[in-house]
Amino acid sequence: MLVSATEMLQKAVEGHYAVGQFNINNLEWTKAILQTAQENNSPVILGVSEGAGKYMTGFTTVSAMVNAMIDSLGITVPVALHLDHGTYEGCYKCVKAGFSSIMFDGSHFPIEENIEKTTELVHVAHNMGMSIEAEVGSIGGEEDGVVGAGEIADPNECKMIADLGVDFLAAGIGNIHGKYPENWKGLDFEALAAIKALIGDLPLVLHGGTGIPADMIKKAISLGVAKINVNTECQLYFQEATRKYIEEGKDLTGKGFDPRKLLQPGFEGIKAIVKEKMELFGSIDKA
Ligand code: 13P
Repeated sequence: MLVSATEMLQKAVEGHYAVGQFNINNLEWTKAILQTAQENNSPVILGVSEGAGKYMTGFTTVSAMVNAMIDSLGITVPVALHLDHGTYEGCYKCVKAGFSSIMFDGSHFPIEENIEKTTELVHVAHNMGMSIEAEVGSIGGEEDGVVGAGEIADPNECKMIADLGVDFLAAGIGNIHGKYPENWKGLDFEALAAIKALIGDLPLVLHGGTGIPADMIKKAISLGVAKINVNTECQLYFQEATRKYIEEGKDLTGKGFDPRKLLQPGFEGIKAIVKEKMELFGSIDKA
């Protein structure tokens, strides 16, 4: 059964670890992440961007697939199905589709409009027993058409949004979606500490988890980050393993062209990186 992400993230704040949000694209991604969470006794959040939702033919399909897979794979660890960088309309679609958590990304709106829309969606989500994430200050780079300038969040604005009753908050602190450029300055821990000082124990979310060095991840967790989003790194591991399979000509021998064989190395690649991240985030055996 799906659960909201509230309890698992409050426990993470208390226990000084973080729960991974791993974005899904299809059946292989979903199965790999769910199995890895179960094998490692870790809570997990499945992230779905609006683009990935569309690709999988809609949020209703995604919700049906995830619910059925939790049942058929015998998954007993806490799993949240979460809309990633949702629009106002997308949030309503996911509420209807049976997601257990939504993110409303109003970071590109003036703060007044972000507050107004977030307030409404907090009520809608909580009436349905769902958790809700909001965002202040944009995440740099691009993810599925969502482009951000990478502004550092204003701690006072974070406090204003936190006070609306959101369950966890994404605050831009120099993090970027996708690979980090060579000249990246790193995470802004001063900003993170200033935000934490104002919002207390509300779980903070670190987007752009791909490629952030382990020491920065650990420091971010020590400063209140309890949810870390990873998307690109799963795609890169899938790509690398698939490329190797084809370059070694394995698709050309026997039944190597069978999609279940062709996709197997990429599937194992996703499992490996998800396990690595769960170890780094400290969520193993926290289910
Ligand atoms: P990466 O693609 O950089 O891992 O970021 C994922 C993310 O933040 C999803 O919202």
